Amino acid sequence: MSPLAPLVLSSALLAAFAKAQDVTGTFPATPLASKHYQYPDQIPYQVDDDKGLIRGTQFGYNLCNSTTEGQDALCQTSFLNSLDDFCLWAPSKPNSLIADTEGEEVAWCTKPGRGTRLIPDGALTGVQFMRTSAYVQVIGFMDQTKINIADGDYGGELDPHGADLRGNPMGGLVYSTAFSSSGDEYTQMIEWHNFMGGNAFCFKVCDPSNEHAADFCQHIYDRIGCAYNAPNNAQDNVFESCEGDVQDYPGVYTGEDGQVTTYTQPPESLGAITTMPYQPKVPASSNCQTFTSADLYSALASVSADPSNSAASSSATGDSSSAASGSHAASSGTGTATRGAATHAAASGTGAAAEASGSNAAMGFRGGADGAVWSGLLWAGVAAVAGAVGVMA
Ligand SMILES: *[C@@H]1O[C@H](CO)[C@@H](O)[C@H](O)[C@H]1NC(C)=O
Repeated sequence: MSPLAPLVLSSALLAAFAKAQDVTGTFPATPLASKHYQYPDQIPYQVDDDKGLIRGTQFGYNLCNSTTEGQDALCQTSFLNSLDDFCLWAPSKPNSLIADTEGEEVAWCTKPGRGTRLIPDGALTGVQFMRTSAYVQVIGFMDQTKINIADGDYGGELDPHGADLRGNPMGGLVYSTAFSSSGDEYTQMIEWHNFMGGNAFCFKVCDPSNEHAADFCQHIYDRIGCAYNAPNNAQDNVFESCEGDVQDYPGVYTGEDGQVTTYTQPPESLGAITTMPYQPKVPASSNCQTFTSADLYSALASVSADPSNSAASSSATGDSSSAASGSHAASSGTGTATRGAATHAAASGTGAAAEASGSNAAMGFRGGADGAVWSGLLWAGVAAVAGAVGVMA
């Protein structure tokens, strides 16, 4: 044995030891929701620069531009401006469960020009944009397989908090022009939530100048879906932009006797949520204008989820500061994704380890094939227990 061997061995041991020591905690020095940056000038490469935390490092990046734009972008800076201009958080790889990828979702948008992926044509099958005095939200129906969510996945909640305060996705930023007086200035959204899954979505951003932003964009009701967190009357095959009254704070309801009650969501360890003590009130809406999908999302015709089958990146304008009001004329459409029926991934993986302890964070739905549990996306008016559906995470 060479005299070097023991040294090699011990340094290997030391390295292993050091590696184990790398994980020094769970929580970042600064929670994601407390990190504020002006768009676009102050955006760092990654807002989550914490090292050695249990959930690892930020998956993508926040500095997104013409070099990152395309269907393989890992851009984690998102927008919600209007019916024709918003992004959704979705996985980077096909056939993924939200539960397994919640820390890693990337931005999929309806408009090019901000360094992100584009939502493929036909993925959005009905969308309602709602403007209120306290928030704006976009609610919709979708073919989720076109943005890499496995068929049959009832999904989960993304928000800037999470069990460890690093957000889901970790480091995800959201901006909106909806609250600027000029209509084109970007404001960082401090409180937002985005439920994705069950071929539907809801994404709400709360006006940071409203003192109840955190109440309207409450993030602790991650198991009861859109109908409770963003009550709405959106319909499939309808594309409309409306104004509306504000909803009750998610989880807060007024009984017939006038008593105001705050719902307590049971922990997942107690099993599926099979009954709810209240029906959420759908706020009144007005001034709805309807559109056709083709008019709204003309930029999407040329892309699919698959980066190798997409014209988006080559034709993108790529200026991260252009709020692109004009539509992007896609010249060389390659058609939409035709991955066919994605298989139902009834995975039982544990996904993000840091979410393990009964927290308010987005816990994953594990799609037990015949688990009859409360739908994650209880659409207004359809709030009945429906066969094999999943728990919203
Ligand atoms: C474009 O984005 C990439 C990825 O975040 C970054 O490395 C690069 O510096 C950016 N370019 C400019 C000009 O900002």
